[in-house]
Amino acid sequence: MRRYDPANPKAPFIWHGGDYNPEQWPRETWDEDVQLMQEAQCNVLTLGVFSWVSLQPDEEVFTFDWLDAIMDKLAEAGRFVCLATPTAAQPAWMSQRYPDVLKSDATGRRRHHGGRQNFCPSSPIYRRFATQIASKLAERYHAHPALVAWHVSNEYGGHCYCAVCAAAFRFWLQSRYDSLDDLNERWWNRFWGHTYTDWSQIEPPYQDGETGQHALRLDYNRFQNEMFLACFTGERDAIRQFSEAPVTTNSMAPFWDIDYRVWAREMDVISWDNYPAPDSHPSAIAFRHDLHRGLRDGQPFLLMEQTPSSQNWQPINALQRPGQLRLRSYQAIAHGAESVMYFQWRRSRGGSEKFHGAVVEHGRRADARVFREVATLGAELASLGNRTLGGMTPARVGIFFDWESWWALEGSIGPVANKRYVETVRQHYAAFWRRNVAVDIIDKDTDLGGYSLVIAPMLYMVTPLLAGRIADFVSQGGTFLATYLSGIADANDLVYEGYPGPLRSLLGIRSEEIDALMPDQSNQLVMSETGRSPEGPVPGASGKAYRCMRLCDLIHSEGAEVLATYGADFYAGRPALTRNVYGDGAAYYLACEVEDGGLDDLYGDLLAGLQIHPILTTPADVEATARVNEQGTLLYLLNHRTEPVTITLPAGQGFTDLLTNTAVKETLMLPASGVAILVEGERLTPGTGPSGSAPPSGDPAPLR
Ligand code: GLA
Ligand code: ZN
Repeated sequence: MRRYDPANPKAPFIWHGGDYNPEQWPRETWDEDVQLMQEAQCNVLTLGVFSWVSLQPDEEVFTFDWLDAIMDKLAEAGRFVCLATPTAAQPAWMSQRYPDVLKSDATGRRRHHGGRQNFCPSSPIYRRFATQIASKLAERYHAHPALVAWHVSNEYGGHCYCAVCAAAFRFWLQSRYDSLDDLNERWWNRFWGHTYTDWSQIEPPYQDGETGQHALRLDYNRFQNEMFLACFTGERDAIRQFSEAPVTTNSMAPFWDIDYRVWAREMDVISWDNYPAPDSHPSAIAFRHDLHRGLRDGQPFLLMEQTPSSQNWQPINALQRPGQLRLRSYQAIAHGAESVMYFQWRRSRGGSEKFHGAVVEHGRRADARVFREVATLGAELASLGNRTLGGMTPARVGIFFDWESWWALEGSIGPVANKRYVETVRQHYAAFWRRNVAVDIIDKDTDLGGYSLVIAPMLYMVTPLLAGRIADFVSQGGTFLATYLSGIADANDLVYEGYPGPLRSLLGIRSEEIDALMPDQSNQLVMSETGRSPEGPVPGASGKAYRCMRLCDLIHSEGAEVLATYGADFYAGRPALTRNVYGDGAAYYLACEVEDGGLDDLYGDLLAGLQIHPILTTPADVEATARVNEQGTLLYLLNHRTEPVTITLPAGQGFTDLLTNTAVKETLMLPASGVAILVEGERLTPGTGPSGSAPPSGDPAPLR
């Protein structure tokens, strides 16, 4: 895995900028753009996304002159370019001349030209054109002074069900299974008489065809993921023939279609697009940042896109309130980002995103609220120089997020229609977020050795290999917790006879039945009152009762200690939370979905027992994270509340707030939506003065 070097010698600062589409505008506008970019301190612009037809108006015709001109103009103005390959939307001439490049929908019907991500990822013709344009761009611009990174395509996704994919899928299956009999066996195809007698009978899981065959759907997800990935690596390799600059593609994890964990191994740096629903809780956004940080085992990532004001694709697109952009931007940095980038630089006059927020709005005014906020933030980010770069997040807690479990679980029919996999992982994550305890989002390949506590919410698919790695972790002293719906199925979604499958002896329990509750029903998880075991205090031994809902696993202990039981219904008194001592560690099983307060108490006890302390104890909804780089530990404090708060800092240390360039002693007042970045000791930057409220340079007068 190539490592992204945040101290990129060409641009060793927080990248601030975003998607810029000069090809949509007359050249007179470009001068205004550059002037405004300087004023907003936007220093890295993503050029070329969706510009394929502008670069290649016909099969044999290439027109790079406009890109040459804008690249040069940006370089002269001291700006840098993250250069995109334009391959997320093929030109109309290509779809017309080579209809095979078009994507087919879930019934196998070929789609008409239009939109974006409307290509078949298996199409050899598409791939040939895509690698050709990537290669031409790299050949032409690899030595350009403005170039700092490559941005391949844009938000890959959207499964294709065309004949090319169907044939490629059969070929892919033949390489994965020993024989057709082997496939029939591992897919359990005698069910409903679905045994194939010839490879040619296998079709994609068409919407009006084989929808109920879980193993088929799971493999189709894997196959499509690989086809898209081959598109990416094809372009990446073409670029690498000429260029050393890091290559990425912008992600939207957790996104169903793409297993970004697999992709992360092929990227030089992770980048992602943050578009929270207007009512998203800050912990849900933090989760997505940490998920992206986890993709390359903790390495910093790029925030490639966010809106500077509103979105337009939500049913209701509220404006971000004053201060929210700054807070969200620092939240990204607090969780591992090295950039603050926007979609989009200038709002288009037509097309489906003409109402999407932009740094430069239709009024083209530099005194607009959004532009001022961006410019003020730009000045502040610039004042940080390289001091926040390269920070790693020390975490002793790991939470699994596994695309294959997600695919298999949500693809399964029963015991409830919506398993809420993502929401469940997030619920467990949020319990740590509320305590300011750092979490790594991990995957089945992650080395567990560095963690003290590993959590597996609904880790549905567990192979014996993974179970063995978790058992080793526990036997060497680790603490592990799995929830209901873990350890149910193997890599083909064949259910184990006896759940939780290969985790059974580690957890010391067996599951017999799973009850699903109606939305208005609940049960209780009642903690035991006996407080101690030979290993120390028993977590949550309080006699307290918590509401539990949705899914209740009816389990039997096979040696595990019962820490809590169900409070009602025919399974009242049966175990709901267990703990099994295993080697030098312990493995917990949480049998039901429990209200947040239950997770807070349970994890509070576990963390105390493991001596994992919060980064800082803060008022509710005031977030604290830490990133460690050569400056030492940078402590990020983010006030997500709408009123000011006072935060008590560790006594006797003394800090410097990098944003205000002031010394901070025992307490810190943060205004509503306020942010601080504290570093230990007095490290005032001479001559700069407080920068937090510094006005950006330049004249804020309207341009016209
Ligand atoms: C995505 C895309 C952008 C734009 C934004 C709008 O992230 O990458 O091209 O469509 O969404 O929110
Ligand atoms: Zn296809």
